[in-house]
Amino acid sequence: MSNSLFRKKSIATILRDANSGLGDGHESGMHKVLKVKDLTAMGIAAVIGAGIFSTIGEASFHGGPGVSVLFIITAITCGFSALCYAEFASRVPVSGSAYTYSYVTFGEIAAWVIGWSLILEYAIGNIAVAISWSGYFNNLLNGLGIGFPDWLTNNYDSATPELMAAAPHIFGLPVILNLPAFIVVVLVTYLAFVGIRESKRSANFMVGLKILVILFVIVVGFFYVNPANWSPFMPNGFSGVLKGVSAVFFAYIGFDAVSTTAEECANPQRDLPKGMIYSLIICTVLYILISFVLTGMVPFTQLKVADPLAFVFDQVNMPWISYLISVSAVIATTSVLLVFQIGQPRIWMSMSRDGLLPKKFSKIHPRFKTPSFATIITGIIVGVPALFLNLTIVTDLTSIGTLFAFILVCGGVLMLPPQEKTAEKRFRMPYINSQYIVPMILIGTGLVFHKEILQRLSMAEGWNVWKHNIPFFLFVIVALITIVMCYLRKLSLIPVLGMLSCFYLMTEIELKNWIVFSVWLIAGLAIYFLYSYTHSKLRKS
Ligand code: ALA
Repeated sequence: MSNSLFRKKSIATILRDANSGLGDGHESGMHKVLKVKDLTAMGIAAVIGAGIFSTIGEASFHGGPGVSVLFIITAITCGFSALCYAEFASRVPVSGSAYTYSYVTFGEIAAWVIGWSLILEYAIGNIAVAISWSGYFNNLLNGLGIGFPDWLTNNYDSATPELMAAAPHIFGLPVILNLPAFIVVVLVTYLAFVGIRESKRSANFMVGLKILVILFVIVVGFFYVNPANWSPFMPNGFSGVLKGVSAVFFAYIGFDAVSTTAEECANPQRDLPKGMIYSLIICTVLYILISFVLTGMVPFTQLKVADPLAFVFDQVNMPWISYLISVSAVIATTSVLLVFQIGQPRIWMSMSRDGLLPKKFSKIHPRFKTPSFATIITGIIVGVPALFLNLTIVTDLTSIGTLFAFILVCGGVLMLPPQEKTAEKRFRMPYINSQYIVPMILIGTGLVFHKEILQRLSMAEGWNVWKHNIPFFLFVIVALITIVMCYLRKLSLIPVLGMLSCFYLMTEIELKNWIVFSVWLIAGLAIYFLYSYTHSKLRKS
C-alpha cells in the first residue's frame, strides 16, 4: 500500500489491467479494428475543423499574411509533441493517452492533473467545435431561406440588445440558446455510444470529403490570389502574428486524440505512432497552403469574420464555392466532434480503472463495447454548456490546457527508461544529445533578442503592464534551468525542444486565461484530495 502522491504505476501493471478489462465483472474487451489508415483518418478527422474554418479568421486579421509563419512554428511544436506521444504510444498502448503516460513517469498526482487538463482539450474543446458547427450550419440554412430564429442560435455574450429584447422571456429573463450546437452534440454522442466501427466508418467518410474540398479550395483559391495582399507580410509585427497562437494551436489539436483508441487498434505499437505523425504532416501542409491562399485573396483587414474561408470566395464573386465550403465546414467539424466525443470517455475509463473516478466510468456496454456511461456524461458536459457559451472563451481555455498536457507528455518521455530491444517492429524516438545544442539555441536566441527580452522583463511600466509578462518570466526561468539540465544530464533533444516550444506558446496566451486555467487546476486538485486519493487502486494494492 502506498500513500505517496507520487506513487507510480508500472507499464506492466497498466498493460495487464487493460488486457483484463476492469476486473469488476465488466470485462468484455473492446473491438480491435483500427489500422494505420483508420488512425491517420481519425487524426485528420480530429484536427481539421473549427480552427481552420473559423478561428483562423481573427488570427489572420491580427497577424496578416505572417500568420502562415505561425502555422509553421506551431506545426514544429506539435511535431515534437507528436514524436513524444508516439514514443509513449509504442510503450504504453492503452486508452488513457497523456493521462496514462504521466502515471507511469511522474506518478499519480501529475496523472490526475493531466487527466483533468485533458477535459479542457476534449470536452471543453468540443464545446468550441459545436458552437462553430452551429455557426456554419445556420449559414447553410439561412442560405436556403429557412433556419432557426436568432434567439435559438445565439448566446448571452454575443447577443445584441435588440435580440435580448425580442427573445421570449421566462421569469423576466430572455431565453437565448444555441440549440443546433446542442442537437449536434446529442447526435454525435449517440454515434460514439453505439460503437467504434460505426464511428470509424463515419470518420473515414467525412475525412475523405473534407480533404477533397480543402484541396479544391487551395487549387481554385490560388488563381484568385493577388500577391499585393501578401505585403506587408507582418503588418503588426511579430507580436501581431503571436496574437493568433491560441487560434492556430487550436487548429492543430487532435492528432494526439488518436492515442486514446489504443485498445481498439489491431497493432497499436506500430500503427498509433504512424497514424499520429502522418495526420500531423498532412494537416500541416494543408494549413500552410490555406493560410497563404486566405491572406492572398483579400486584404487581411477584412478577415475578422467567423467564416473566413467561405467569406473570401464570396468576396471574389464565387458564392457557390462559398456554399460548398460551408457544407464541408459542417462535415469537417462533425468529424472533430466525433473523435473528441470518443476520446473523452476513454480517458475517463482509464482513470476509473485506476480508482481515480467512480467505477461506472469504466463500464463497457455489453453489446456496443463502448464505455457507455462515460460517453453519456461526456454528451451532457459538452452539450449543455454549448447551449450558452461563446466561442473565444472556450478556444483559449482549450489551447492552454492542451499545451500544458503536451509539456507533461514531453517531460514524461525524459523520465522513461531506455527502450529494450524487441523483435517486433515498434516506433522508437531517435535520441539526439541536447548537451550542447539546447544551450547554444537558448543562449543564441537570448543574445539575438536580448532587447525584446529585457523590455518584457522590465518593470518600468508598473505592475499592471508587467503582470501580463509573468508567464514569460516563468519561461525564462525554466529556460535557464533547462540549459543546466541539458548540459549536466545530456537529455534527449526532441522532448526538451517539445517542452520549451509548448511552454513558449503558452506564454503567448493572455494572462486571464492563465488565471482561469489555474482555477481549473485548483478545482481538480480539490476533487483529487476529496475522492481520488483515497479511492486509488494503488493505495489499496
Ligand atoms: N483542431 C480541431 C479544430 O480545429 C480542434 O476543430
